[in-house]
Amino acid sequence: MTIYTLPKHIDFEGQVNAKNTHLFTLKNRTGMEVAFTDFGARIVSILVPDKNGNLIDVALGFKSIHDYFAADEKYHGASVGRYANRIANGRFELEGKTYTLQQNNGPNSLHGGPQGFHNKVWDRQVSMQKKVDFYYTSPDGEEGFPGTLNVHVSYELSNDNEIIIHYRATTDKTTVVNLTNHTYFNLNGEGDGDILSHMVEIPAETYLPIDEHAIPFGFESPVDETAFDFRLARKIVEALNPEDEQIQRGHGYDHTFVNKQPLTQVAATVYSEVSGIKLDVFTTEPGIQFYTGNFLSGKDTGKSGNRYLSQSAFCLETQHFPDSPNRSNFPSVVLKPGAVFESTTIYKFGLVK
Ligand code: BGC
Repeated sequence: MTIYTLPKHIDFEGQVNAKNTHLFTLKNRTGMEVAFTDFGARIVSILVPDKNGNLIDVALGFKSIHDYFAADEKYHGASVGRYANRIANGRFELEGKTYTLQQNNGPNSLHGGPQGFHNKVWDRQVSMQKKVDFYYTSPDGEEGFPGTLNVHVSYELSNDNEIIIHYRATTDKTTVVNLTNHTYFNLNGEGDGDILSHMVEIPAETYLPIDEHAIPFGFESPVDETAFDFRLARKIVEALNPEDEQIQRGHGYDHTFVNKQPLTQVAATVYSEVSGIKLDVFTTEPGIQFYTGNFLSGKDTGKSGNRYLSQSAFCLETQHFPDSPNRSNFPSVVLKPGAVFESTTIYKFGLVK
């Protein structure tokens, strides 16, 4: 059995663009512990009790800041922005002006560009071991986006084993915003095999089918009688139909499920019958990108010394829909001066009954 320990503060002392990096930890009354770094305002580890009361680290990640800098996969645990997910052809129009972004994912712009928020050292403040606040000011024109964006991401650890993530952003010029958290979860423990036997339940009636560049066509499709029907809990491996054209395009699941649940009702649940650990996701966002880590390449070695192979983790990225800046029928991602962008996501851990 792997013995999981929290990463050491000293191993997270580094520097990016003259800003120092650190590690922060939160702990609650039931013994759950979560570690964060200001590099990318990211989650480094999540230790939660399994059915035997052992603490299991369910978040993929690395044991030092240098491993994060060197990693093949750049988004482990990170706060992703200014625009999480894809913008087709790295281009969009806003108030009559065309904005061009770097195409870092085939023809698309992905996750705010190569120097997106995941790659910045955020300012931070820790309160009472319960909450950590991260702040970043993205200058006008950064990665091609208009407007100075002031972003605040806070993580709170409750005594009910919830990680409560709150996002807030304001701008001085009309811009687009889509923020998410990119934690890769494995509920058997990071580095402990694949996630194909995890059970998934998502009440979404529709999802967004994608083209060959993983861009949604622009319409919602019913999940009924497809590989995307998780309205009743199903094992990933049993749902994942390799003949399905959509599954082939995503190389597995890499699709947005349309979320109609309010923050008080579960938008997605994943659990492992092996560890007994269950993750419930609650969100104010209209979409959840369910991604089965298809592009994890095996080049990265994680905290406990195991390689991160394809489908060794899953993400539930709560967000607006991909390519919304080019789709007037999608919920708007436009933020104007004077308005406040706010959004909340809760990752709640528990045990299968
Ligand atoms: C995307 C994947 C991408 C991954 C990058 C996910 O949000 O949907 O296609 O490979 O991020 O790590």
